[in-house]
Formats: sequence, structure tokens, C-alpha cells
Amino acid sequence: MTDELSVRAAPIRREPAHPSITRDQISRLVDGFYGKVRSNSRLGPIFEARVQGNWSSHLAKMKLFWASVLLRTGEYNGRPVPVHARLTEVETDDFRFWLRLFRETVAEIFTLEAQPIVVTTAERTAASLWMAMGDNRMKQPPDWSE
Ligand code: HEM
Repeated sequence: MTDELSVRAAPIRREPAHPSITRDQISRLVDGFYGKVRSNSRLGPIFEARVQGNWSSHLAKMKLFWASVLLRTGEYNGRPVPVHARLTEVETDDFRFWLRLFRETVAEIFTLEAQPIVVTTAERTAASLWMAMGDNRMKQPPDWSE
């Protein structure tokens, strides 16, 4: 049947952002990335102050976030913008450090074809989180590419 009703009722396709991306890679991305974050002298303390020892629940949440974004599973239904808008101690350059560690981790795990897709997703999200912070509204986010 190809009438209008059956077209509208068709199931939503949940294709990964790249076919090589797996749940196992996402799990390694999150564990590896936050391992680097925790030992970073600038980012580590910002996270430790909020996570307060609950790393396993933060990591579990971040795996749902990245699966939702990269595998389009819709498992994450939080609101990162208000969470980050409250982080008044975060400075613009912290995003550069965050993205540097993220790119490094992505390069260790994903295929060459998938890497730019994963990195671009993080860069775009970083820009919108940055714009929600302090008086950055309506400003142009900096260039964090390296
Ligand atoms: C300088 C950059 C960043 C800093 C310092 C930062 C810091 C944090 C902190 C402290 C939390 C709260 C942890 C907790 O309360 O358990 C958090 C949560 C989160 N972050 Fe970031 N973040 C940064 C950038 C990003 C970027 C670029 C993304 C996405 C690509 C991201 C995605 C998230 C998500 C999804 C959460 C969970 C929000 C929720 O509670 O639902 N963050 N971040």
C-alpha cells in the first residue's frame, strides 16, 4: 500500500550517523574520553565538583546521549543546555580543551570515515552549549578547529 496514510504510518528509520559506528565504540569513547577529562588539570576539577563521585551514572548517561546522537536510538531525553548554562566557571577556552581530548579519543576508536562525523557532531553541540552560556547569546562561537 502506498496511500497517504500508510506512508505517514511508516516506521521511522533509525540509521546510524555512519554504518561502521557500534555501541561498543560509543562505550569506549565515553570511558576513554572521561578518563582523559578526569586527569586534565583544567577540566578535571570542573567535573569532579559536579559529578561528586557518581562517575558511573554520569558515564551511563553519556553513553545514552552518544547512542542517541550517533545511532539515533532516542535513548537520551535530558536537557544539556540548562545543565551547561549553570556552569559559570567554564571559560571559552575550556571548550577547546574539551574538543581536543574528544578528537584524540575519537581517533583511537572510530574508522577514518566515521571520525569526522563524530567530531563534527561534538563541535556543533559545543557551539550551541557555548551560546547558551553567560552573555554569549547572539555571539559567534570561536573557531575551535585544529
Ligand atoms: C568545556 C566544555 C564542557 C564542560 C566543562 C562540560 C561539563 C559538564 C558537566 C560538569 C556536566 C554535569 C555532570 C553531572 O552533573 O553529573 C555535563 C553534563 C553533560 N554534558 Fe557537558 N561539558 C562540556 C561540553 C560538552 C559538550 C561539547 C557536549 C556534547 C557534545 C556535552 C554533553 C553533555 C551532556 C549530554 C551532559 C548530561 C546532561 C544531563 O544531565 O542530561 N558537554 N557536562
